[in-house]
Amino acid sequence: MSRIDRSKKTQNLSNVTIVRLAVKIKSDFSLPPGPQISPQQQSKEWIEHPIDFWEACAKEYGDFFTVQLGSLGSVVLMSHPEAVRQVFALSPKVFQCHQYNEHYKYVMGEHSVLVQDGERHKAQRKQIVPPLHIERIKIYAEQICQITRQITDSWPSDHPFSVRLSMHELSLQVILQTIFGDSEQVLKQQITSLFRSQIFQDLGSWSPWARFGHLHPLLRKMIGDAMDKRRKNPDPNSTDIFNLLLSIESLSDAEIQDHIFTFFIAGVDTTALGLTWALYWIHKNSEILEKIRQELDSLPNEVEPMAIAKLPYLTATCQEVLRMYPVVTTPTGRKLTAPVEIMDYHFEPGVTLLPCTYLVHHREDIYANPHAFQPERFLSRQYAPYEYFPFGGGNRVCVGAGLAQLELKLVLATILSRFQLTSAIEGEVKPVRHGTLLAPSENMKLKILQQQY
Ligand code: HEM
Repeated sequence: MSRIDRSKKTQNLSNVTIVRLAVKIKSDFSLPPGPQISPQQQSKEWIEHPIDFWEACAKEYGDFFTVQLGSLGSVVLMSHPEAVRQVFALSPKVFQCHQYNEHYKYVMGEHSVLVQDGERHKAQRKQIVPPLHIERIKIYAEQICQITRQITDSWPSDHPFSVRLSMHELSLQVILQTIFGDSEQVLKQQITSLFRSQIFQDLGSWSPWARFGHLHPLLRKMIGDAMDKRRKNPDPNSTDIFNLLLSIESLSDAEIQDHIFTFFIAGVDTTALGLTWALYWIHKNSEILEKIRQELDSLPNEVEPMAIAKLPYLTATCQEVLRMYPVVTTPTGRKLTAPVEIMDYHFEPGVTLLPCTYLVHHREDIYANPHAFQPERFLSRQYAPYEYFPFGGGNRVCVGAGLAQLELKLVLATILSRFQLTSAIEGEVKPVRHGTLLAPSENMKLKILQQQY
């Protein structure tokens, strides 16, 4: 990289001077400055204290800074909205993402969309985006409410409980329902008990999903048997994702299984943590809770779940939840395969460009009082997709964004209509790492004051 001088003076230079300047720019590609600590220390800070690390770097170096991240090499973090817009608008021909997502290969499978690039990535998105389109997922709205009722039935009435585990279970049930529909009851139960015993045992800072890779042979066998059964007895009326994937002739069994693993890993923890954060913020602030309740009370008794999803204050609260602590703190890093210019900067191939969601979501020039939780900001202003981007952007934008947003709203509405809860937190709730995600620490507890029905 080098900073390109776009000052007016440049326009007066002769063509020869401009050519010389361009040659100089290409041969002098130093990167934006960044922390002076060793690459090992930088990786450690990134893993252990990501927010403090980014905030300190932004304070020192501004909107662009370079960090060294292990095998990824030089990663340029950007928190200027115009830079984010330009990165999301880049042609997929000039970057690759599989290097950034390499570690997911072992848990999602080698065919996962997250580890593809170019034409294969484009083709795979065509397979998995339509079944998750908002018009299709509407059919799961009632089931999301039902699953919420089932899971919350087991909440203890006499002592505080940690909501995080039940949100992981709930989110798993929603994904299972979306993939397999009302069929495959036995398979869904088997997968649920595997998750209970192997995955949801430890919600600590390092994601237990690493263990998921060891479950692949067993899961492939279980899903493979279900595939054989469906192929022998096809149900033309079934609308679930499993059926849709089975109907794509070009897909191998391993590819279908990897798509399913990808939905589990990309969709369960992310939504569960979004829900846990939402319950935290709502119960930390009684005014916000009251406003959501009033909105819910204004609805008729028998209401379509999709009417709940349109409620403005509930929607604004869910948006603010993902602004404040974006569960996925950055989109996938784009590793350049060709030279690229972003704002005043020129970047050479090999450099990874990474918009920093957390830093953009906390810019004072976009969000007044950025560290305060204020859903109202989403009612008074519409933010551009490069100012607010909890689901990433461009050709890699999250395929489950519609489902996740619907789930957040319906689960919260169902819980708040059923229970009066109060916060039972001991100490301070801190954002902690859960794999690559940002989770509330485990002391985030609630207590039931009253159950309505
Ligand atoms: C609150 C919940 C969620 C959040 C915050 C979230 C966020 C994200 C982000 C930031 C990305 C990277 C986008 C980029 O690189 O520009 C992503 C990718 C992805 N997400 Fe989500 N996600 C959520 C839920 C889901 C759900 C429910 C599913 C599936 C059912 C899902 C499936 C995926 C997939 C498959 C990708 C990879 C897309 C690609 O590489 O082309 N996500 N998500």
